[in-house]
Amino acid sequence: APAKPDPLALLRWYDRRRRALPWRARAGETADPYAVWLSEIMLQQTTVEAVKPYFAAFLARWPDVAALAAAPQEEVMKAWAGLGYYARARNLHACARAIAARGAFPREQRELLALPGVGPYTAAAIAAIAYDAPVVAVDGNVERVVARLFAIERPAREAKAELREQAQSLFPGRRAGDFTQALMDLGATVCTPRGPRCGDCPFHGACAAERSGDAEAFPVKPPK
Ligand code: ADE
Repeated sequence: APAKPDPLALLRWYDRRRRALPWRARAGETADPYAVWLSEIMLQQTTVEAVKPYFAAFLARWPDVAALAAAPQEEVMKAWAGLGYYARARNLHACARAIAARGAFPREQRELLALPGVGPYTAAAIAAIAYDAPVVAVDGNVERVVARLFAIERPAREAKAELREQAQSLFPGRRAGDFTQALMDLGATVCTPRGPRCGDCPFHGACAAERSGDAEAFPVKPPK
């Protein structure tokens, strides 16, 4: 039988290869939920490189959720200018006010989901990265990794539930934030849409798409 993907191999890969991103806690430190939330909202439709300077500017100017809540909406909109998808900035500010009013950053996924601008992906990402909740957040990069690992034969948009379940089935039971971000990094740097570098992958030899001989064919394209 072919080898099964080993989630611990991914964590070991991440320990060596993780991208040093400003919203990531250093090993052994805990992530600040406010910084994680801010980064995840900014990263929703924007690339890592474009987000970096905005993330730094927001944190410098509004170092915590109370400071952001106290800012005039207009100032937040101005600081967001250039990032695009401005509904995110309006939601961000509304969200800061809701969190400040309630007194603490929510921890439960159910409460996170109730925040403006926070959908299932973002709620899972915050829960895993900021609180080490045992969930795997599935974004587009992670969908591709999972579709390949298991050679899922349906287009991603039709297989969301299966992709989420398979992603969750990989969870090694600890280091939830690292594990979720390891999958993201793997998708961004190795398991890329074009020209995946299967030889450098911690799942090398345990990936069904790689065994098929054409990893790039997954996720399969929707019929035209
Ligand atoms: N894209 C969305 N969230 C991310 C994160 N925490 N790290 C890297 N890329 C991301």
